[in-house]
Amino acid sequence: MDRIRIVGGQRLNGTIPISGAKNAALPLMIASLLTRETLTLNNVPRVADVNLLSRILGNHGVDVTIAGKKSGQRTSDGQTFRLTATEIVDTTAPYEMVARMRASFWVLAPLVARCGRAKVSLPGGCAIGTRPVDLHLTTLEALGAEIELEGGYVIAKAPRGLTGNRVELSKVSVGATHNALMAAVLARGETLIENAAREPEVVDLGNCLIRMGARIEGLGTPTLWIQGRETLHSAEHTVLPDRIETGTYAMAAAMTGGDVMLDGARANLLQEALQILRSSGIEVEERPTGIRVARNGRGLQPVTVETRPFPGFPTDLQAQLIALMCMASGTSTVRETIFENRFMHVQELARLGARIELKGDTALVTGVSGLRGAQVMATDLRASVSLIIAGLAAQGETVIGRVYHLDRGFERIEDKLRQCGAHIERLTS
Ligand code: EPZ
Repeated sequence: MDRIRIVGGQRLNGTIPISGAKNAALPLMIASLLTRETLTLNNVPRVADVNLLSRILGNHGVDVTIAGKKSGQRTSDGQTFRLTATEIVDTTAPYEMVARMRASFWVLAPLVARCGRAKVSLPGGCAIGTRPVDLHLTTLEALGAEIELEGGYVIAKAPRGLTGNRVELSKVSVGATHNALMAAVLARGETLIENAAREPEVVDLGNCLIRMGARIEGLGTPTLWIQGRETLHSAEHTVLPDRIETGTYAMAAAMTGGDVMLDGARANLLQEALQILRSSGIEVEERPTGIRVARNGRGLQPVTVETRPFPGFPTDLQAQLIALMCMASGTSTVRETIFENRFMHVQELARLGARIELKGDTALVTGVSGLRGAQVMATDLRASVSLIIAGLAAQGETVIGRVYHLDRGFERIEDKLRQCGAHIERLTS
């Protein structure tokens, strides 16, 4: 299994290109199931979850081609995927596949909407909480699907198609909103989704569906109105920049006291996180081509933060913020309100000398004068990258095991950091 070795203590200085958002690319790829025609997606990141989803979609009958590089393209430019689901040959998503990536459960809605049936294994994914799928199922039921659970599978049937309805999500859920949107665009009549997620990735999916011929209003608000269509058609769409990758590198730059330009980043996708960084004393400058983040010699002030659905502070940046606050002068309070078990990085950060006390859903992070390198273990995607951030500032060598978690969602992370002066390498075995 690959490991990552870091020798910490170098300031990050330079430019980091921001990739397309993994969490937008995945539902966008799944949306290809909704039409017989080709969906072209630009700026798709080179990450393991995208590759795995390509295989899962291939199993359903989607032809996936990746366009070759064009002259003048840089390594940092995203890929162009063409996905064509002329015929759905298999409406089953088996355990072996869905258990490896939670987002693949989202094939449920488009398969039922287009084929009238689907059998999809209950999901796996990062071990950050119980992560139920009740909202996905009640949404489909509200649109007329019959749902049964059998042998670890969800079996959904709507032989006469789905019918629009009013759906109120009892909790804000990104995945359930993706699912509801993809079901509603092919349902008969109108659907109203209340308490919808407002995450930029939901808006990106909605905009792509509109390009495919869907009628959707209210994107970016908690109330979505959809007029179903009989069919959708071909479209081309560019995946939005990854706000979590942006926030992660912003914190890495701040952690090392460096000065980094995040090329292609969009500040409006993470205003709350940028505001928290500013309040901590970090310089954050919004520029037309990206965001510049610097902490030239200044100390870090502690912060008080709660994770919240968008536009609040994202749970996917919580681990990275905790790593950063290990260097603040004082005690920060970080409360996790989205997932109940998302503090596994805390014990690994402690191996590097961090002082973090857990009190239920809250981490009290007391800054220390310096971290020391150690061997640590990645436990989930965002936890792994928090260890990288900490390792970049720690004195001496940090070796991170189980980095396959990292490869699921960060494109060429060692290259991007090395180009800014980090001493980081992958140890393959
Ligand atoms: C998406 O997961 C992201 N994954 C997660 O990123 C992210 O942490 C999460 O949204 C929250 O922003 C992808 O986009 C692929 P949710 P999702 O449904 O959709 C509860 C990463 O690191 N809930 O918004 O699965 C749930 O337990 C990943 O890239 C129900 O109770 O998350 C949680 O407490 C990790 N019933 C809350 O809602 C349901 O049916 C929000 O989860 C569904 C969810």
